[in-house]
Amino acid sequence: MCGIVGYVGREEAYPILIDGLKRLEYRGYDSAGVALLHQNVINLYKKEGKVAALEQEASGKNIHGNVGIGHTRWATHGEPCDRNAHPHLSGSGRIALIHNGIIENYGQLKADLVQKGYDFKSDTDSEVLVNFIEDIQINNNCSLEEAVRIALKRVTGAYVILLIDPQLPDTIIAARKGSPLVIGVGEKGHFLGSDASPMLAYTKDVVYINDYEMAIVRPDELILKNYGNETITPFVQRLDLDLEAIEKGGYEHFMLKEIFEQPQTIFDSFRGRLDAEQLRVTLSGLDSISDKLLKARRIIIVSCGTSWHAGLVAEYIIEELCRVNVEVEYASEFRYRNPIIDENDVILAISQSGETADTLVALETAKKQGATIFGIVNVVGSSIARLADAGVYTHAGPEIGVASTKAFTAQLVVLQLFALRLAQLKGTISDERFKTLIEGLAKVPEQVDWILKTQKATIRAIADKYRGSSDFLYLGRGYNFPIALEGALKLKEISYIHAEGYPAAEMKHGPIALVDETLPVVFIATQDPFYEKIVSNMQEIKARKGRLIAVVSEGDTQAAELAEDYIVVPQADEILAPLLSVIPLQLLSYYIGVERAVDVDKPRNLAKSVTVE
Ligand code: F6R
Repeated sequence: MCGIVGYVGREEAYPILIDGLKRLEYRGYDSAGVALLHQNVINLYKKEGKVAALEQEASGKNIHGNVGIGHTRWATHGEPCDRNAHPHLSGSGRIALIHNGIIENYGQLKADLVQKGYDFKSDTDSEVLVNFIEDIQINNNCSLEEAVRIALKRVTGAYVILLIDPQLPDTIIAARKGSPLVIGVGEKGHFLGSDASPMLAYTKDVVYINDYEMAIVRPDELILKNYGNETITPFVQRLDLDLEAIEKGGYEHFMLKEIFEQPQTIFDSFRGRLDAEQLRVTLSGLDSISDKLLKARRIIIVSCGTSWHAGLVAEYIIEELCRVNVEVEYASEFRYRNPIIDENDVILAISQSGETADTLVALETAKKQGATIFGIVNVVGSSIARLADAGVYTHAGPEIGVASTKAFTAQLVVLQLFALRLAQLKGTISDERFKTLIEGLAKVPEQVDWILKTQKATIRAIADKYRGSSDFLYLGRGYNFPIALEGALKLKEISYIHAEGYPAAEMKHGPIALVDETLPVVFIATQDPFYEKIVSNMQEIKARKGRLIAVVSEGDTQAAELAEDYIVVPQADEILAPLLSVIPLQLLSYYIGVERAVDVDKPRNLAKSVTVE
């Protein structure tokens, strides 16, 4: 969380920074700020709120300079306010710093600095860091670069930092550990960012910076070093990404665009990987660790949030098709509970951003204990993708709306391919079942398109009818139980309505007490082996006057008749059904969020890439 940008070159930095911050706003939007170096003076502007508020703050002021850094914040230490916004200046006012991450030992560092007479204007760990660096520079009488190196060896936590200093004209100093940093190499200078989106309009040549690396960046020079002060040759990669992919393309919100992109993104996630004629699924990443997978006693899935829901669906699919034990873990719990892992374990990491701190650290822990890490990641070149021993990209394209939609369905597709290929290697699937599933998967893009086209108006009307409700319950069974969880999570995130997802049968063991004539209960009641059971669960809610909304399969009568409102999805094999049943739930949340005037792309308190614990 938090987005950082930097520019050093021959152009005016301010417009580049503002444009970059707008593209990174999905990472946090509590406050924003920029520091510009102009004629040996730092001009600094910062403001609580979104980047637009910063633009207003800076309007009419001196925004010149060819060197600058910018930040959009997701608050960790200290409330969102002007004072806590980045950049932060050192005590002398000379060095400006922006920071994404958390300095864990900031308390002790701050106490030491206070004793030395340092004064703090903010409540942030980041201001402690810039003062700590300045203090080291003064005491050691060394260069800023050297002071940064010494300081970073003594801080614990995660960070990307960018610093500017009028004594080093035309220079940005950057360093990373645990938070992402990309440097764009362009004709007009160098661009720095939390991801590549701020630089895409200027260059496609980028360098991904690794942990414990520092960069000294000038208009025509990029020096990369490790913390031992040894020079590293930058590895410049060409991005395979177009600017249109990160723009709204006529849609009102990124979230709506991303929901409607799913026929294409689902196709992209299996394109070139399926061959129904030859009965083949090609996943070279999986094949490269097939010996480990065939020997594995179990597969442990580690992820967070929506990606964790994809993991739950995968647990059902992999156990069913591959007959191997699967455990699904919240990364944040897994990493701290001293799990028993050894070299016989394969860890499947699922992450859209590839930067989620809890997932990343859980993987590092498991890797140290000998486990093999397989990454299912959307963002190419991200930290998790690079840490994994092998993996598969989901190819959903950039997801900018904070609530995950197209990345989730792409994860489901890749997990289905994973299960199919592994089942084939293990000999636990018949050719006939294999063929049915890959033929079924090939039809999904068209089926999703059908849902979006034919059910949109119905879903919008349902959203309008129930938008005033204060609580929702989502119920499903089997493969659709995780989809109930996902439907509830989406609604919470972008409408601020309290919602809970539950296994439909488990509802009797507690949540049924919530049911009265005001409670909307969304049932996923598609045609599968649990259909009769779910219809009985619907009867139980109806008997208690709950308001039934059902997602039903085409041709359904029973569940549709019981429900006050229903949405239709095409029939599909139960393993593929989650790919269809989640679509109306995404759209329902979107329309309810819009009706309730929530900024659905940037709902309060959230950030797209959670790079702190
Ligand atoms: C919800 C959502 C989050 C993420 C979670 C993990 O819509 O987007 O719950 O799924 O923060 O993020 P990744 O997948 O980037 O590791």
